[in-house]
Amino acid sequence: MKLEPPVEVSRDTLTFDVSEIEPILQAPPTDIKPFPPAMIELRDGSTMVVREANLEEAPQMLGYVEQIMKIEHDFYDIVGARIYAEILGWYRKRLKDPYTLIGLVDGTFVGFANGRLKSDKINISLHTMSLRRGLRIGAIMYYVKASYGFEILGNEEWWATYESYNGWKRWGIGMAQPSYPWPEYQHELGGARVYYITKKYWESTVKDYIKEYTGAELVRPVPEDLLEKNAEIKEVPSFDKI
Ligand SMILES: CC(C)(COP(=O)(O)OP(=O)(O)OC[C@H]1O[C@@H](n2cnc3c(N)ncnc32)[C@H](O)[C@@H]1OP(=O)(O)O)[C@@H](O)C(=O)NCCC(=O)NCCS
Repeated sequence: MKLEPPVEVSRDTLTFDVSEIEPILQAPPTDIKPFPPAMIELRDGSTMVVREANLEEAPQMLGYVEQIMKIEHDFYDIVGARIYAEILGWYRKRLKDPYTLIGLVDGTFVGFANGRLKSDKINISLHTMSLRRGLRIGAIMYYVKASYGFEILGNEEWWATYESYNGWKRWGIGMAQPSYPWPEYQHELGGARVYYITKKYWESTVKDYIKEYTGAELVRPVPEDLLEKNAEIKEVPSFDKI
């Protein structure tokens, strides 16, 4: 678009340094309390450590998720493609206040959960994925991120939606989540229904979900040797078993 300036100007051209444009394109980060690592015993007796992923791990994670995008069952492809975009959005600073949690067993990357803060009040659940099936790792990862929102960040509402039957069963039904009227309310993941948890409902009903569902509890702090064992992503399970 071009228009003639309505006043005489001393310079016809203004140039910008991209570093001047970046603060406008990048959402200024909110000062979010970090996620304190937690651990939990899985059904097979192993211990999963859940910690925040480091930004430097993003390229490695993208490499794994690229393979997951090709798994054409149980909605791993669509969820994988969206997770790929979210990790890249976090890495390239094109997401507002994202958090990225990973679950590791002896350095093997077995679980993923992420979200972002729409505001101080509303936490948007983005995605959860289990890379090792049958151990309720996904159930745990989702619970961990919701508890981060309510217990540590002090959020008042949790907004989720579901792409897969397994996800809907685990949390939509498993946590008996109500949904806002649709299409008035739409989740940012494709405009689907917004399922939500309020702080009050979290306190009264959902807080003990993971203990009821898996019999295990989140434990903090994580001992130093376990943190060290899981400080790096050393490998991933074989994706053939997913
Ligand atoms: C949804 C999801 C995170 C749930 O993870 P989870 O809690 O670890 O549960 P699983 O998917 O491994 O297993 C679900 C059930 O199917 C069974 N199952 C399905 N496929 C299995 C497999 N390949 N191996 C072993 N068990 C399997 C499990 O035993 C389990 O039964 P249970 O309910 O009695 O425990 C996971 O299915 C996933 O990552 N799906 C793809 C991404 C996705 O849909 N994300 C959520 C978007 S809404």
